[in-house]
Amino acid sequence: MNAISYDVTDLALADEGLRRIDWALAEMPVLQSLTDRFSQEKPLADTRIAACLHITAETANLARVLVAGGADVALCASNPLSTQDDVAAALAGHLHIPVFARRGADHDTYYRHLRGALDTRPQITIDDGADLVSEIHKNRTELLDGILGGTEETTTGVIRLRAMAAEGALKYPIVAVNDADTKHFFDNRYGTGQSTLDGILRATNFLIAGKVFTVIGYGWCGKGLAMRARGMGAKVIVTEVDPLRALEATMDGFQVMPGVDAARVSDIIVTVTGDKHVIDQAHFEAMKHGCTIANSGHFDVEINIPALRAMAKQVLRPRDEVEEFHLPDGRRIRLLSEGRLVNLAAAEGHPPSVMDMSFANQAMGSAFIRQNHNTLAKAVHPVPREIDEEIAKLKLDTLGIRIDTLTPEQVAYLASWQEGT
Ligand code: ADE
Repeated sequence: MNAISYDVTDLALADEGLRRIDWALAEMPVLQSLTDRFSQEKPLADTRIAACLHITAETANLARVLVAGGADVALCASNPLSTQDDVAAALAGHLHIPVFARRGADHDTYYRHLRGALDTRPQITIDDGADLVSEIHKNRTELLDGILGGTEETTTGVIRLRAMAAEGALKYPIVAVNDADTKHFFDNRYGTGQSTLDGILRATNFLIAGKVFTVIGYGWCGKGLAMRARGMGAKVIVTEVDPLRALEATMDGFQVMPGVDAARVSDIIVTVTGDKHVIDQAHFEAMKHGCTIANSGHFDVEINIPALRAMAKQVLRPRDEVEEFHLPDGRRIRLLSEGRLVNLAAAEGHPPSVMDMSFANQAMGSAFIRQNHNTLAKAVHPVPREIDEEIAKLKLDTLGIRIDTLTPEQVAYLASWQEGT
């Protein structure tokens, strides 16, 4: 076997990483069945893939499927605080996959790692946040000729890519994995809902019951988080800018109010918007003593941390994932995981059984690009409906759940317009 290049924190963690990867795989039956299929059909034969994803046990199992399909895969981290160093070590040491990822990487190292993955001259890019696409279009345009297409995992990335496409700047086709129903209905809602609370609990060891818990943003992630926070006994407030979503949150039974009003009464506030400075100076000025703030949206810009730093006379670190900002008027505000994705920085990200479907979309989306790149426009494309439905069926099968099918009479009825009142 040829030597591979990699940059990980500690190769000695490889055995522990492999144990965790295998533990996750047991909860990823769709990926298991795709591994069998890909091993036989080799839909990614001789395809170089660079994937910029959170380096977790679940991602390692996606990499295994791609390799089973015949791809040469290189991985780099999509967030400096989400890398699981033992998994990175196992990818390099046991699975022989080039990986560039260290937990806590600084800005320069993060971009050096991206360049390491791009040096493999990928034909397909897999992104979580569009950093590979962005780096290629800004600084590595010589790679564009060899690229067949890419996939995007997350809402924020899809928004960035649609902005590129709208400006005519996007130079290769992208499949928006995030928009598949088998992705965002489950990963964004149930995955973010559970893993965000997991992150908050591991970071703080707080009781959620009885707390006033504000969710900023009522997209799929916000819906899941509000639902789960209520399930643990919190009094949940939602803030929104979209009138339809605000109405939906109201009728889902949540209190809806402007962010600054929510800041006055909240014990915990979590941002899940994909936008910038949704917690800003005005919110810090209004916050209760002891308020805990966290972000579960993609980038660390949702909370205006520089403004909070500028207001503080002292910053202490009472626990690993908590910074406590002491304000001159005596109030203390706690920030979790430096405002980075709290579910991945303080916990392990979404559980494997939802990543099973998200990453099945990634694997099948990559194979789709391999087969169809000649006819795909340089635009953002949905995951084909057949792939989405196939993943839903596979997941149901593996859960042992059977469903009914329409009778011929019902099919005919749905296709007709004559029968009425
Ligand atoms: N995004 C959210 N959770 C994740 C996980 N467990 N692995 C990879 N990407 C993720």
